[in-house]
Amino acid sequence: MSDVLIRVRDLTRDYRLIKRREGVVGGLVDLVRPRWSTLRAVADVSFDIAPGEMVGYIGANGAGKSTTIKMLTGILTPTGGEVTVGGLVPWKQRRQYTRHIGAVFGQRTQLWWDLAVVESFRLLKKIYEVPDDVYAAQMGVFNELLGIDEFLHQPVRKLSLGQRMRCDLAAALLHKPRILFLDEPTIGLDVVAKENVRRFLREIRDLQGVTVILTTHDLGDIEQLCRRVMIIDKGRVHFDGELEELRRRTGHRVRMTVDFREPTSGARLATVTAGLPVVWQEGEGRRHVAEFRRLDVAGADVIKRVVNDCPVRDLALAEPDIEEIVREIYRDSAAAAAPAPGRSA
Ligand SMILES: Nc1ncnc2c1ncn2[C@@H]1O[C@H](COP(=O)(O)OP(=O)(O)O)[C@@H](O)[C@H]1O
Ligand SMILES: [Mg+2]
Repeated sequence: MSDVLIRVRDLTRDYRLIKRREGVVGGLVDLVRPRWSTLRAVADVSFDIAPGEMVGYIGANGAGKSTTIKMLTGILTPTGGEVTVGGLVPWKQRRQYTRHIGAVFGQRTQLWWDLAVVESFRLLKKIYEVPDDVYAAQMGVFNELLGIDEFLHQPVRKLSLGQRMRCDLAAALLHKPRILFLDEPTIGLDVVAKENVRRFLREIRDLQGVTVILTTHDLGDIEQLCRRVMIIDKGRVHFDGELEELRRRTGHRVRMTVDFREPTSGARLATVTAGLPVVWQEGEGRRHVAEFRRLDVAGADVIKRVVNDCPVRDLALAEPDIEEIVREIYRDSAAAAAPAPGRSA
């Protein structure tokens, strides 16, 4: 038998919205006789997650990530489908369920704004009925890994976003849950703070074997934390597999932006990388952009050619962002679903 902790089948969630009529009169009519429309935010999502997995749930804004997490944490009841987590149904057995899970919503804190951090923790200890020894041990771990003792006595409202996120993570793990749901845990953080959050998540997973689902629109989170990713777009999962497989599908495509010291022509650049599978975008003046696939050519070889031939001021390589990858995956899966040309149904 396979080892499944989180089982999701055909999970669907609709939101009902009022279809606005135009104008002042329309607004009044809306009040009396609203016209409803339905938005399917999550559509027939199915997956299994094994204990100890750390899974990335990625997608653009409005893709349905938060709605999924809210159903998995029991905050929201689905329109259809099933979820069982360790045999429990989140929105039905909520009291029992919350003992086993922790959740962080990056967009808003779960802590009490005006209380000192440590007061929030003490309240949560009471609410979750955390035994003294577990509380002490967890606080020890958080002090060591997150350095929260520095600002334990400050009110939450005085914390920086990075500090607040560290406290939110600690708060979510105070009762030592088996499962941690993270909705955009690095949103709005600077590079250093992001790095801190990622390092902590790796350590806590290794240390306490927590199963983690995290949503993000930052591929960097996934790269450093998750082997498995799911891509959601318009409520549907378009990809569920290893990050490596995703990279293979996009051919490890990279974009190189070069700032030259002098205005440089596209024609010149084409000769510089002649013979290499590198495509220069239309560019002019000092800044030019090229694309290539790491599968076809090593970045170092491309860079060497360019730098040896033209004086370069600055150079940056970037992976395609999440929107682009989603678009590509979406196109692929639409093409796979459509009947192949030349073959009749
Ligand atoms: N409470 C709500 N009422 C109506 N529509 C909502 C509500 N929450 C989210 N939506 C809509 O559902 C879709 C998915 O939203 P969400 O799950 O928040 O996406 P994500 O977290 O990926 O950005 C979006 O189109 C959003 O506008
Ligand atoms: Mg969201």
